[in-house]
Formats: sequence, structure tokens, C-alpha cells
Amino acid sequence: MNAYTTTTIILLLFMSLSLVSTGAQTLERITPGSSLSSTSSDYPSSWLSHSGLFAFGFYQHGNGFSVGIWLVGKMNKIIVVWTANRDDPPVTLTATLQFTMNGSLILIDEQGQKKLIVNANTRASSASMHDSGNFVIYDDDNNNIIWQSFDHPTDTLLGSQSLPGGGQLSSSLSQANHSTGRFKLKMQVDGNLVLYPAYTTETGWDAYWAAGISISSTVKDNYFLYLNKTGLLQIWNSSGDSNPNLINSLVDATEDQNTVNHTIFRASLDFDGAFRLYVHHDTNGTDKVIISWPGNNPCEVKGFCSFNSYCTFVDNKPLCNCLDGYKFIDSNEKTLGCKRNYLEAGQCRGEEDGLAFYKMVSMNNITWKDHPYFETTNDMLSEEDCSLKCLVDCNCWAALYDGEKGNCKKQGLPLRYVIRTDEGDNSTNVFLKVDKNSIPNWKRNYTRFFPQPPPSKTTSNKAVVHIIVVTSVFSIVLCSAIVISSHYIYKIRVLRYKRLTDTGNLGLNEEVALRRFTYNELKRATNHFKEELGKGSFGSVYKGALLKGKTKRFIAVKRLEKLVEEGEREFQAEVRSIGKTHHRNLVRLLGFCVEGSKRLLVYEYMSNGSLGKLLFGDQRRPDWNERVRIALDIARGILYLHDECDGPIIHCDLKPQNILMDEFWTAKIADFGLAKLLMPDQTRTFTVIRGTRGYMAPEWNKNIPISLKADVYSYGIVLLETLCCRRNLDVNVLEPEEILLSGWAYKCFVAREVNKLVPSEVIDENVMENMVKVALWCIQDEPLLRPTMKGVVLMLEGITDIAIPPCPDSNRA
Ligand SMILES: *[C@@H]1O[C@H](CO)[C@@H](O)[C@H](O)[C@H]1NC(C)=O
Ligand SMILES: *[C@@H]1O[C@H](CO)[C@@H](O)[C@H](O)[C@H]1NC(C)=O
Ligand SMILES: *[C@@H]1O[C@H](CO)[C@@H](O)[C@H](O)[C@H]1NC(C)=O
Ligand SMILES: *[C@@H]1O[C@H](CO)[C@@H](O)[C@H](O)[C@H]1NC(C)=O
Ligand SMILES: *[C@@H]1O[C@H](CO)[C@@H](O)[C@H](O)[C@H]1NC(C)=O
Ligand SMILES: *[C@@H]1O[C@H](CO)[C@@H](O)[C@H](O)[C@H]1NC(C)=O
Ligand SMILES: *[C@@H]1O[C@H](CO)[C@@H](O)[C@H](O)[C@H]1NC(C)=O
Ligand SMILES: *[C@@H]1O[C@H](CO)[C@@H](O)[C@H](O)[C@H]1NC(C)=O
Ligand SMILES: *[C@@H]1O[C@H](CO)[C@@H](O)[C@H](O)[C@H]1NC(C)=O
Repeated sequence: MNAYTTTTIILLLFMSLSLVSTGAQTLERITPGSSLSSTSSDYPSSWLSHSGLFAFGFYQHGNGFSVGIWLVGKMNKIIVVWTANRDDPPVTLTATLQFTMNGSLILIDEQGQKKLIVNANTRASSASMHDSGNFVIYDDDNNNIIWQSFDHPTDTLLGSQSLPGGGQLSSSLSQANHSTGRFKLKMQVDGNLVLYPAYTTETGWDAYWAAGISISSTVKDNYFLYLNKTGLLQIWNSSGDSNPNLINSLVDATEDQNTVNHTIFRASLDFDGAFRLYVHHDTNGTDKVIISWPGNNPCEVKGFCSFNSYCTFVDNKPLCNCLDGYKFIDSNEKTLGCKRNYLEAGQCRGEEDGLAFYKMVSMNNITWKDHPYFETTNDMLSEEDCSLKCLVDCNCWAALYDGEKGNCKKQGLPLRYVIRTDEGDNSTNVFLKVDKNSIPNWKRNYTRFFPQPPPSKTTSNKAVVHIIVVTSVFSIVLCSAIVISSHYIYKIRVLRYKRLTDTGNLGLNEEVALRRFTYNELKRATNHFKEELGKGSFGSVYKGALLKGKTKRFIAVKRLEKLVEEGEREFQAEVRSIGKTHHRNLVRLLGFCVEGSKRLLVYEYMSNGSLGKLLFGDQRRPDWNERVRIALDIARGILYLHDECDGPIIHCDLKPQNILMDEFWTAKIADFGLAKLLMPDQTRTFTVIRGTRGYMAPEWNKNIPISLKADVYSYGIVLLETLCCRRNLDVNVLEPEEILLSGWAYKCFVAREVNKLVPSEVIDENVMENMVKVALWCIQDEPLLRPTMKGVVLMLEGITDIAIPPCPDSNRA
């Protein structure tokens, strides 16, 4: 805050100096009550600066109009230098802009909808469009500036404008579309000026140009970038009270002083990611590039060709092409990147699937500028070993083999920053993982029956291949055996089931079937529903006890409310399918009751309450090792629901309150399968939001189908909460940035300070970092980027390497 204010003061100083030097004595004063209109002839559509160089008002943007500031060029060619609310859609019909007494600029569209463009919130006396390109609003008393466009740059700096430390320019989307685009220029608080793709967090791996080395990473001086009127672009350090010190002069384009009144300099972060200094001569309308960073080859801009594509520079033009195995997201807009050209992404469930579904193809003349998520050192691997290492790793989609050192680098999705040139790096061979497109169907199906090999890190790849070959043969035999025997098993089961029903003794210890209770039985067992254990989204839960001989067994009886209208038969079918799930980390369903409109479920009783109580309660706190174990328990429970029982079950409402602890402190997931009772067809889009705020994946709020990945998101939040023993949203923290755990975890991860997440606790930092990485992958906004639960378990168990997660929040620049 302080840094900002000081810089503003410095800026004002410069401003007033430049005003004096240009002798701007007669400024057009715009008085409160004035209006502009986009199309109506009753009002002007813009306010011009004194000499008509700059205009503020409505300009044509796409099919409509936006409010902005532009350089009035010759022959109606305007150069937009600032846009208000640039990400709002342009107004299409007649709109007016009002300058009010209280210093606001209000946009009113034809329907009468009002939108605040500027809210200075102080009584204003006037506004002015300066010849510098700055639009300024003055207050009532001393003509102090209460708002100015120079404080809110979009993609352009003009002469006498500065960019304070911590500030940034964001490129436009395209030449014609001034919404926020794909690149940013950051004036860092450490004194460095750096270009990054917009979606990245500012680490050196993502930077594609920097003005120099950072001066200090600990001392936060008040550095700022300043472009002076005569084309000098510099980084300054302001000490607060004395004159600012020059730190770094980037370019000096100072020209003949006589032309200064008609020469306008501007530094823009263009839509293609290059930061350019332009000079504009008003006398003859020329607009010339003085310098361009990082250079004239856009392929040097990281992310110029977006995900999964590569950049080539031919005939002085950049071209984006998809890597093998990918196709354009939008073939009209090739810079937007590519996606996998088949639908099976995420199919990889383990090493054997890698071999079954994919093959590696090589690519030549490639320079890869992204950081690998895994790199072998001094292993003297062969090219085949390297390519195989990638093939059997579900996270690996490209392998870079360095023939000289025998090193192998693995790259995960999305594949980024790839350049192809004729003089490409010939010591590195690149292999891409692509779909084996002719996989017979039977093969796809039989991989489902693969017994999970107990994969261990020490198994060499050759051994893996052997295991796989042996198990394949074994599996084919096994498959036929299953087909033949399942018929008989089915018969035997039916017989057994029959026998049990016949004896009428559906004891609670039996694995096979659920017991059907009468309502009166449950009323008795719960002592007229006396002791309420909790209230969930589906209804209340009561403690009860069943007597079996002399032993008493506690149960939890859930009275379901708010069910979809459903017949008894459908309800029973659903409940029986829940009853078929048996897993150490799932709460067992013991029985049910259907009578008239009454629907009750009977579960085993969990004596140690919920994980929520354990983590956030004020009793004993689980230690680090216990929390790690609990996190894995939960993951295995969800994996079973998703992958290993009959038909996947989406839980839809995972949260610590729905995870219960038994007498041995084993975590067990409760309430699974109930979402289906409320919304029978899980494959359709859910129309009613079912989950719990804070744990819900972002797609619940968008109109897109809910998939298993929604549970993965919730798991990610639960994982973070479990690791850090605090709620995701917690206002009782020391620093504002710590309030939202997910955001803070990402910050700590980027800064490599995950131990900050669990202060005053001795933890294994490597384990913690890996688990935080997994959690960050789980909470990606984009469902496709989230791993499957299988992937999560493999990563948590340390079986697969974990790629560096991108920022989970795709909206954050
Ligand atoms: C700019 O592009 C965005 C995203 O494609 C779009 O939503 C917006 O309407 C476009 N704006 C204009 C003025 O074309
Ligand atoms: C400023 O004035 C406008 C209209 O005159 C009004 O809508 C807005 O609420 C006012 N803002 C404040 C902060 O008073
Ligand atoms: C810009 O900086 C140069 C070098 O310091 C100086 O000579 C020139 O007068 C400055 N221009 C303005 C308008 O301040
Ligand atoms: C920036 O200014 C401060 C205050 O005058 C000073 O202490 C510091 O050394 C300066 N930093 C550099 C890199 O010049
Ligand atoms: C620049 O403009 C100012 C006022 O607009 C004028 O006083 C000054 O003489 C001009 N300078 C040149 C070199 O034309
Ligand atoms: C435009 O005018 C400037 C000076 O006013 C001069 O330097 C430049 O060469 C001119 N450009 C053209 C194309 O005439
Ligand atoms: C790689 O570059 C060399 C050198 O220009 C060229 O001869 C070769 O054809 C290129 N390879 C491919 C596959 O384009
Ligand atoms: C790679 O290029 C260098 C020089 O461009 C050449 O000397 C070397 O033989 C090449 N290596 C291979 C493997 O082609
Ligand atoms: C493989 O499984 C799919 C869906 O699970 C099924 O539609 C298909 O018929 C199966 N193919 C064979 C050959 O069993």
C-alpha cells in the first residue's frame, strides 16, 4: 500500500512537471452532469484532449462499443490505449456515459441498466482529457486528482506514465479484441521487469524475457517503470523522501526536441506477447516500432502457441501446429492450442494400461523450453529405456532423451513451450506418447480384469515388461475362467442367498444381503428416535442398538427426507446396490426399511465421530503420520466407489463431516450412493446443486455434466484440510493470504515453503510437498486436468511421479 502511494506521489510529481513543461494552460474542463452517447447525436461520443491527440469515450469494439481512451490517428485509424472494464461485453445498442457529482462515471445501456465505470467516491469538480493520454477527475476543493486512468493501465504505458512495483500490463486478446489476453508484463517488487504467460504464477520457469536480474529478493524497495515524454524507458527506485534513483535504462529513443509536441511514445504489451516501444508522429500519422522484446520471432514468446502445440517460424511468420496425437481446439484460431485427438484421455490406470493403449513416436528438430516434472541424472539410460519410462508412467506424455548424458526428462500435460526449427537441438531426441489407434475391443475390456500388480519403485522396466507379458497370458486364461465360472458362482450365490432368506436369519455378520427392518423395529432400536447423532443433507441420523442374543450392537439409523418420488422397487434396487459395496474405508450399510413413504437406512455405528470433529474439534488432534494415513484411507475408499465396485458411484458430497472414524480410527466414507437416490440418472446433468459449498467442484455452478472428477475436486480440499488440520476457509488466521487454504497452499508450494502450512509440527517435508502437489492437481478448475482417483492413489503411494501442478484457479492471472 505504502509503496503504491509513494509511487503515486512520485507520479504526480512527474505529471505536474510534464504539464508545466508542455505549458498546458488551458485544459478543457468537463463538468459533472456531462454525458457521452455511443450513437445518439444528442451528445458527443467522446471528449477530446486540448490539441485533439487523445479522446475519451465510446469506441467501436467488435459489434458494439466500449469506453476507452485512444490516440486519434490520421484517416480514422485509432490506437486504443486504455479500455474501461475491458472484460465486459461491449454495449451493442445506444448507451450513455454520465459524469456525476460524486466523481463516478456511470454507463447506462438502452435497457436502463447501470454500470459503474469509475467510482472515485468523492465530490468532483471537473474531469479532463489530457494531451498525455491521461483522463483525470479532480475533486471539489483544491483540484486534487481523485482518479486518473494512468493509475489503471491495461496493456499500454504512455509518455509520463509509470507502472508501480507489483503492477502489471496485460495483453489484449487480439488486435481487434481488447479483452484480457494471454500474456502479462510484471513490474516486480524485486526490481525486475518480466514477461510471463498470463496463466502462470511468476516463476523463472515461465518467464520468457526479463529486463535484467532481480536486484533484491528480500528488500522490497519502491521500484517502478517509467516512460518519459521523450521516449526514455527506465526502472527507478524511489526512496520515499528524496529523489528517485535510476536503476536501469531500458531504451533511449529520445528524438529531436522540436517535434516533441507531436511525437507520442507508447510502450505496449501486444496481443502476441511482445512488449514494444512505439513512436507515433502526429504530423504525418506514422506509427513505428522502436524496439520489441523478446525479439522479432514470436516463437520465443512462451505460450504463443498454447498447450500441446509447437511453434515454427517460417518466412518471417510464426505458425502453430499440433504435436502428434493432438488436434486444434479451434482450427480458425490456431494459437489457442490443441487437445488429444481421441476421447480416452484419463484412461491410464496403471503401468499396464500405458503399454496397452499407447505407443511412443519420435519428433525431430525440437527445442523444449518447459521444465520437466521428472529428470533422471547420470543413469546412462538408452533411448529405448527413456521412451519406455514415459510409456509406463500415466503422467508422462513426452520424453526428452539427451543422448550425450543418457538423461531422460519427462513432461506432463499440458505440453508447453515447444519450438521446432531446422537447426533444432540435435542432441535431444523427443518422444511423444500417442494412442495406439487400433486397439481391439476385447483387449480394452480385458485390461479391466488385470489384477493390480503390487508395483514397486525398484522394479526395473524390463521386469515390468516381463510381469506384464506373464500377467497378460495369465489374464487371458483367467478371463475365460471367469466367464465360465461366473455362471456357476452366480448360481451358488443365489443358492446361498436363498438359503439365508429361507432360514429368515439375515444376521448382521453376513456379507451377502441386507436386512429389511420394519419401522417399529427401528423405532424400538432407537428408543423412538431419541438420540440424534447428526443432521445431513439427506435427513437426520439417530443412534440405536440391536440385541443379538446377549450382545448389543450399536447402529446408526438415517431417516431419509427430500427423496425423489420413487417406487419401493427402485428404492430397494438402489439400496441393494449400495449394500453390495464392501470396503475397509466405506461405512457398511446393514439394512433398510421401506414402509409407505418412510425410507430409512441402517448403518454400522462409528464410535469416534466424524473426521470434521477430529480435525477441527478441540479434543485431541491427530498427529502428522495419522493424518497421512487417514488421507490415504479416504482416497482408497473413493477409488473403490469410482473404479472397483459395480458401476461407478459418484459421491457428490465428500467432506470431513461425511467421513467417519471407527473405534480403531480408520476413516470410512459415509453417505455414498445417496446422491443417486435424489437424482436417479447420474449421467445426466444435475439440475439441483447437491454438494456442500467449499467442497463443490466449480462445474456444479456451470451447466456441464458432473463426472467422477467432481469427487476428485472435493477430495483435494479434504486432503488439504486433513494435512493442515484446518478448514479450507478460516478467518482466524494471521495473514489475509492464509484465509483460503487452497490459495495459500499454492503460494507456499510455489515458494517451496510447504512446511509453513503446518507450523510448529515436525513433518516429512518431501511427503508433505508431494501430498500438496496431489491436492493441487485435484482442485484444478478444469476437470480434465484433475487426475483420476486411481492416479491420486498411485501418486500418494509414491508409485508414480507427480508433475508440477499449474495454478488451480484458472481465472487468476
Ligand atoms: C473478445 O473475445 C472474448 C472471448 O472470445 C469474447 O467473449 C468477447 O465478446 C470478444 N469481444 C469483442 C469485442 O469481440
Ligand atoms: C454517485 O451517484 C450515482 C448517481 O448520481 C449513484 O448511483 C451512486 O450511488 C453514487 N455513488 C455514491 C458512492 O454515492
Ligand atoms: C526524458 O529523459 C531524458 C534523459 O533523462 C531527458 O533529457 C528529457 O528531458 C526527459 N523528457 C522529459 C519530457 O522529461
Ligand atoms: C532504493 O532506495 C532505497 C531508499 O533510498 C535504498 O535504501 C536502496 O538501496 C535503493 N536500492 C537500490 C537497488 O538502489
Ligand atoms: C508545444 O506546445 C506548447 C503548448 O501547447 C507550446 O507552448 C510549445 O511552444 C510547443 N513546443 C514546440 C516545440 O512546438
Ligand atoms: C514523419 O515525421 C517525423 C517527424 O515529424 C519524421 O521523423 C518521419 O520520418 C516522418 N515519416 C514519414 C514516413 O514521413
Ligand atoms: C531437421 O533439420 C535439418 C537441418 O536443417 C533438416 O535437414 C531435417 O530435414 C530436419 N528434420 C526434419 C524431420 O524436419
Ligand atoms: C549436431 O549438429 C552438430 C553441428 O551442428 C554436428 O557437428 C553434429 O554431428 C550433429 N549431431 C548429430 C547427432 O547429428
Ligand atoms: C467392451 O466393453 C464395452 C463397454 O464396457 C461393451 O460395450 C463392449 O461390448 C465390450 N466388448 C466386448 C468385445 O466385450
